[in-house]
Amino acid sequence: MNAAPQRLEHSLTDKGYVPVYAAGVIEQPWADYSSTDHRVWAQLYDRQRKLLVGRASDEFLVAQEQMGMTPDRIPRFDELNERLWRATRWQLVAVEGLLPELAFFEHLAAREFPVTWWIRKPEQLDYLAEPDLFHDLFGHVPLLMNPVFANYMRAYGLGGVKATGVGDWALQHLARLYWYTVEFGLIRNRDGELRIYGSGILSSKGESLHCLESAAPNRIGFDLERVMRTRYRIDSYQKTYFVIDSFEQLFEATRPDFRPLYARIHDAPSYAAGAVLPGDDVIQRGTGEGWLADGDV
Ligand code: PHE
Ligand code: FE
Repeated sequence: MNAAPQRLEHSLTDKGYVPVYAAGVIEQPWADYSSTDHRVWAQLYDRQRKLLVGRASDEFLVAQEQMGMTPDRIPRFDELNERLWRATRWQLVAVEGLLPELAFFEHLAAREFPVTWWIRKPEQLDYLAEPDLFHDLFGHVPLLMNPVFANYMRAYGLGGVKATGVGDWALQHLARLYWYTVEFGLIRNRDGELRIYGSGILSSKGESLHCLESAAPNRIGFDLERVMRTRYRIDSYQKTYFVIDSFEQLFEATRPDFRPLYARIHDAPSYAAGAVLPGDDVIQRGTGEGWLADGDV
């Protein structure tokens, strides 16, 4: 079903970066969700919440509860938005699906997270090729309650707008940073245990187990340039997970202007998704068991 696209204006006063209009934003068609849609949400929510206790970062689990997401029905964005606004001044906006890159960056820069409004079908509980409501809402949105992570996401959006003016090759480096942090990042807590904060993992039962418990993947300490030069897999579990110690560390490491870095690594070779390099802070070296030899992006 298609709701009429709705253009949103932003006031200059409460948002630093102001897109002319928010591309692709619609009203969440909440009344149109079927009982099957609500049941799919409930099943996925219960399954992941159980699995993620002791596996997801505590920041994520706490934030999700503070937001008031529950399994009984698909959350209403307007209700979540009240809490999110109070916590970090972020807002969710409903979209039909993936947005053009620049539009996506502009949303983040304006503290808006685009959430796909529709949810997968019952036969797609374990895997779906494109982001749906469960991935976006369950996986991405809770950490926007966390002030440091929320600031990182906004900085990423501003950085994306800036990189768009540099060139496609700069965007490729920036996309790798997003992939290895926002989508597939691990964090080490104070007890030295690895926990999940990447939304691509948080919304996947298989990868939630794989990323922490399998011997196959590498787990390597986060390094900005290393991450930006590392290709990734879109068709399988990751061969390498990069580990941060805190969201503050991530925010600080990415604070400097990237333009000199882009220029420096422009002609540098990229690394294979499963590579382990001499300078790496290797937390765990993967066995590589079951890896396919081709297909790094
Ligand atoms: N400091 C980055 C730049 O100059 C902006 C950024 C922050 C990008 C965080 C990504 C993540 O482009
Ligand atoms: Fe995602």
